[in-house]
Amino acid sequence: MNNDLQNKYIEKEAIHGAKNYSPLPVVLKRGEGVYLWDVNDNKYLDMMSAYSAVSHGHSHPKLVSSLVDQSNKLAIASRAFYTEPLAEYIEKLSNLSGFSSILPMNTGAEAVETAIKAARRWGYFTKGIPENEAEIIVADGNFHGRTTTIVGFSSEEDYKKGFGPFPEGFKTADYCSTGCECSKVCEKSINSFESLITENTCAILVEPIQGEGGIITPQPGWLKQLREVCTQNNVLLILDEIQSGLGRTGKLFAYEHENIQPDGLILGKALGGGLLPVSAFLSSREIMDHFNPGSHGSTFGGNPLAAVVASKALDILFEENLIENSREMGDYLANSLRNINTNLIKEVRGKGLWIGVEVHEDTVRAKQICLDLLDLGILAKETHETVIRFAPPLIINKDQIDWALERITKVFKKYT
Ligand SMILES: Cc1ncc(COP(=O)(O)O)c(C=O)c1O
Repeated sequence: MNNDLQNKYIEKEAIHGAKNYSPLPVVLKRGEGVYLWDVNDNKYLDMMSAYSAVSHGHSHPKLVSSLVDQSNKLAIASRAFYTEPLAEYIEKLSNLSGFSSILPMNTGAEAVETAIKAARRWGYFTKGIPENEAEIIVADGNFHGRTTTIVGFSSEEDYKKGFGPFPEGFKTADYCSTGCECSKVCEKSINSFESLITENTCAILVEPIQGEGGIITPQPGWLKQLREVCTQNNVLLILDEIQSGLGRTGKLFAYEHENIQPDGLILGKALGGGLLPVSAFLSSREIMDHFNPGSHGSTFGGNPLAAVVASKALDILFEENLIENSREMGDYLANSLRNINTNLIKEVRGKGLWIGVEVHEDTVRAKQICLDLLDLGILAKETHETVIRFAPPLIINKDQIDWALERITKVFKKYT
């Protein structure tokens, strides 16, 4: 392996780049489907999909072709004008999701900010909360992005240290964590949300499964109960499905596992088909109509290039049965991981092709497992010190999973 070539780029980044990431030591140059190649032409199976942004696989030919075609026509127009692709795309997303109104943005964090603004306006203008008193309840262990407002309500000290002062108006309740002792629905969590609600609460904002938090999968029934708490208290339920949405958990949206309807939905990542940053806040007309010209916007949000790619990305989810595949292959992968004969694994959890393997704390670090997997041609990324996440593109097939399982088993056995 020519490490000199890789080191050349790694050093350039070290010299010229901010050190806000700690990547695995591999320099990628090409992607196709579930595979990636490094600058030395070594091939890898991608089992993290750019934090779930590459659900459709790398450089999906239909998406690339939409991107190229639209680039040759009109890429960026700004929202100072109407465009055909935006109109067609939001109509499609609205019909698919059942949400009557869509506000397009670019990154996930921007869409979360949009949801916060929408919830607060609804709180002031509809619910009648006194000006500047609105409160939003979030969950312990949340991850919603990196803006100063968002990290301000994170419970992760590393995300916020040295970045204050932070905006007020957020309270933190207990998430329904796996391993908690409640038998059915996590009463401790539901009670903690309920106890924080006041007449000034406009919204509860949660992830249906906490991804960055460690693929923390709540007990069945938890989200449904949270929905009831919101309805009873005239509080909006806003779900951040930036990572869990669009087939990742084996349903179009993760909340469908619980048969509920949130008041607001935040999408991102896979909405851009693995090619562009595309995000959106979806809600009812009543909530969305609290935005008026000048109250919110984005130069790039809803641009024709992004609209065409996102629209195609939605089509492909259905044309290629990616949601079903996520469910079937996800079950297969999770069950096979559970069957690995090792005392290293504490828990295998998740839904669809979004699986976290937690190793016991006093054993090997999750990052070391990822480094070993890298040597065997698998790209996976740890979250926190003890969880290895497996979130391959939703196009992955059984042979590719079997190939990966052989290597994953080998690595786990090494430390057993
Ligand atoms: C649930 C969730 N919300 C928000 C974000 C932030 O998205 P972005 O990095 O596109 O701003 C992420 C990113 O990992 C996420 O997983």
